[in-house]
Amino acid sequence: MVIMTTTSSATFLPVLERIAEEISHTPGRGRPADYIPVLAARDPRSFGMAVAEPDGTVYGVGDWREPFSAQSITKVFTLALDLAREGDELWEHVGREPSGNPFNSLVQLEYENGIPRNPFINAGALVVTDRLQTRTGDAAGVLLDFLRAESGNPALDFDTEVAASETAHGDRNAALAHFMASYGNIDNDIPVLLDQYFRQCSIAASCADLALATGFLARHGIRADGSRLLSRSQAKQVNAIMLTCGTYDAAGNFAYRVGLPGKSGVGGGIIAVVPGRCTLCVWSPGLDERGNSVAGVAALDRFTTLTGLSIF
Ligand code: DON
Repeated sequence: MVIMTTTSSATFLPVLERIAEEISHTPGRGRPADYIPVLAARDPRSFGMAVAEPDGTVYGVGDWREPFSAQSITKVFTLALDLAREGDELWEHVGREPSGNPFNSLVQLEYENGIPRNPFINAGALVVTDRLQTRTGDAAGVLLDFLRAESGNPALDFDTEVAASETAHGDRNAALAHFMASYGNIDNDIPVLLDQYFRQCSIAASCADLALATGFLARHGIRADGSRLLSRSQAKQVNAIMLTCGTYDAAGNFAYRVGLPGKSGVGGGIIAVVPGRCTLCVWSPGLDERGNSVAGVAALDRFTTLTGLSIF
């Protein structure tokens, strides 16, 4: 058991070092996503983990400065950016319940009249990006600017190879978007929306970048420059949806094992929030059958066990 005292730089570094050492001996790291062919080439033995403190201090272990494909992690940021603009009207277009289905499932949409269960399954994220696109004219660009500002890394960018690869294999997302459009739940032309969504998912960022960019959720809605993005209540709401929906049909098990709001992406990254205390990002490209990083979930499980930090 590691006992924490007061805030100081790199408080959790010894814990991260211990976790990296343990993970390095763990066999069976899952398999990188292969439905986006360029992601399949990543080495499943890669592992990085970073912690960002609310004051902007960031530190990590392993490949924590190596950029990877953020993918569905970006859904947290587009949700926050849209909520900040339109507030509760968003909830007339997307729900807040766990789906219990895979991230790219179509099955509930017809029963539920084209209103996706939550903003983190693909259907819900498409609705959020569509609404942000309507409000800003460039949803992916607004997202990229936000991530650059929060991470302090102006080099963050779209990965055009990943976006093109996903466009070429994008039939499922196109089907979701067209189906919701048939219910009047999509405003923009579908090719415009899909281009925005695939560029959003393609952003390459490191554990350090994403841990820092998530900081506003640990600071109860306050951005890195001290301005407010979300009300305290909205920040709580986003954290709650991460806890209940952030790892899809594995969200119950993630809450059980980790006990923190978290959001995964098929690039192998997972962000997590300890409200008021710190944010984390872990990356390892090998996924389980539900699209969550095997080593990433294990590392977060060990973090909350070793530190005693969780929301419970
Ligand atoms: O929509 C897709 O298929 C991907 N670009 C994002 C999926 C993703 O990261 C799901 N998360 N585990």
